[in-house]
Amino acid sequence: MTALVLIGPMGAGKTSIGRRVAKALGVPFYDSDIAIVRAHGPVETIFAEQGEERFRMLEREAVRTGLEGGGVVSLGGGAVLHPGTRADLAAHRVVLLTVEPRVVASRVKDSTRPLLQGEDALARWTEIYDARRPLYQELADVVFDTSSGPLQDVVDAVAAWA
Ligand code: S3P
Repeated sequence: MTALVLIGPMGAGKTSIGRRVAKALGVPFYDSDIAIVRAHGPVETIFAEQGEERFRMLEREAVRTGLEGGGVVSLGGGAVLHPGTRADLAAHRVVLLTVEPRVVASRVKDSTRPLLQGEDALARWTEIYDARRPLYQELADVVFDTSSGPLQDVVDAVAAWA
């Protein structure tokens, strides 16, 4: 069963949109971060106590499980860093959700995301996004921007594309 996979940077709305698209399509919803938190505890604790490399290993396993289940699968922003995940995505329908920096600041405000702690969070977000952009674009079958208008419009567009 192919999954409808949502990729993109932190703050693009992958979890909120994915959940609603799954509901609209009547299929299960899976989110790699939620799965990791359920099995291993908070993302920030994993980063702090075991490091990012360990998080990426757990994320790889979570993504594999999610893809096997089909339905709508939202991936953490950095999941595409894993070559195995990138290879697996070729067998699925991949939706890239993008967002402009002017919008993302409010979405990731007070975030518990370990990569966005501190004062220059937006600069770091931009740096990370710029580094990953080629990976996102290479993997995407379709791209939707989530910067303007109601989130529901994006949900409808993704569900219609699916
Ligand atoms: C990360 C994105 C987060 C989460 C972790 C690392 C990243 O997920 O997996 O904080 O490297 O981009 P979201 O994209 O859902 O925020």
